[in-house]
Amino acid sequence: MSSDIAVGIHDLSFASTEFVLPHTALAAHNGTEIGKYHIGIGQQSMSVPAADEDIVTMAAAAAAPLVAAHGSDRIRTVVFATESSIDQAKAAGIYVHSLLQLPSACRVVELKQACYGATAALQFALGLIRRDPAQQVLVIASDVSKYELDSPGEATQGAAAVAMLVGADPALLRIEDRSGLFTADVMDFWRPNYRDAALVDGQESINAYLQAVEGAFKDYSEQGGRTLEEFAAFCYHQPFTKMAYKAHRHLLNYCGADTDKEAVEAAIGLTTAYNTVIGNSYTASVYLGLAALLDQADDLTGRPIGLFSYGSGSVAEFFAATPVAGYREHLRTKANRATIERRTPLDYAGYRDLHQRTFPGDGGDHPTEAQTTGPFRLAALRDHKRIYEAR
Ligand code: CAA
Repeated sequence: MSSDIAVGIHDLSFASTEFVLPHTALAAHNGTEIGKYHIGIGQQSMSVPAADEDIVTMAAAAAAPLVAAHGSDRIRTVVFATESSIDQAKAAGIYVHSLLQLPSACRVVELKQACYGATAALQFALGLIRRDPAQQVLVIASDVSKYELDSPGEATQGAAAVAMLVGADPALLRIEDRSGLFTADVMDFWRPNYRDAALVDGQESINAYLQAVEGAFKDYSEQGGRTLEEFAAFCYHQPFTKMAYKAHRHLLNYCGADTDKEAVEAAIGLTTAYNTVIGNSYTASVYLGLAALLDQADDLTGRPIGLFSYGSGSVAEFFAATPVAGYREHLRTKANRATIERRTPLDYAGYRDLHQRTFPGDGGDHPTEAQTTGPFRLAALRDHKRIYEAR
């Protein structure tokens, strides 16, 4: 089953939005006791896109440093994973391909399965690399999480993009071949084509997630995967950071292991640092957890990390990634922190105004208000086309 070629993540970069809404502002608006947000769901703030930001501008901003550092000559595939797609036909990755001037000898495709999509993209990328180790695949996960105003889901919004350069002999993490898989037809969270905001059955979604943790790890074990004790840490998909704690305790219980509070904290505590201030970034979320872990942990060289990816509906996968020697020299810790710190706090009214904006569907010329200070912006909607520009 295993191959001699080490394949995995060569570089990882992320981007988020111009604005951020502190949960204190949401709590003051809706009269919620702040402990429910800070402790109950484990969220401090959430990224909010400017009027001229979307999944494409975030994705291009996340991927640009990878192209700047490694060039684009070896990139023959771009896989863009999202569940907040901007077009039913055209892949959002083609706009990124254009903004970053990637080679025309390239295949670009968009993948969807709720928050799981980026993990499918990563696995497909690894298969392509195994076929031709000279190539690299640019995997991008980019999402804006949007629920109805004044709904329970509102506190679990957010937005971010993660870009990963996937290739042979990776500088950051080797991805192991074994995977645990789980699919079940559940209606826990979905977004019909006619809606901007997702529909969700909150409690059902938490139960479905926990069933998927169990199902994916069961399959992982049956495939001959590692035992729990072999992992230095666990990165979970984090729709809200408390979910990672629920998930890890569930996994420990399922395996008959001790759910000691300190052991749980040691296994997942560092993975929540970015998600707690960015909010749910759907496809990007588990990889923001990975970035937070790598940026803060002591040396993890050769120590496997368990990753659990969950997409409502539902599909889940558990797999292992092992940091390689020298990985710490290739982390983007400073840039990652700057991405979080550069956001401007909104008051509740400012957030609500942005939340309620939509493009008219009349095919007219609708320039967007210039708000973002990021490297790319959505300049207008014109003739039913999105017009992007580099700033
Ligand atoms: N101090 C401390 N804790 C408090 C508190 C206080 N003052 N008040 C309440 N809490 C606690 C509650 O006890 C509860 O904790 P437990 O779950 O550990 O019991 C927690 O805060 C949340 O309280 P509620 O369950 O009452 O909150 P809610 O009804 O408002 O809904 C939610 C919470 C279901 C997460 C909701 O925000 C939601 O629907 N979010 C979207 C769906 C979601 O994220 N689902 C996750 C799994 S699906 C998935 O992973 C895919 C995806 O990305 C969407």
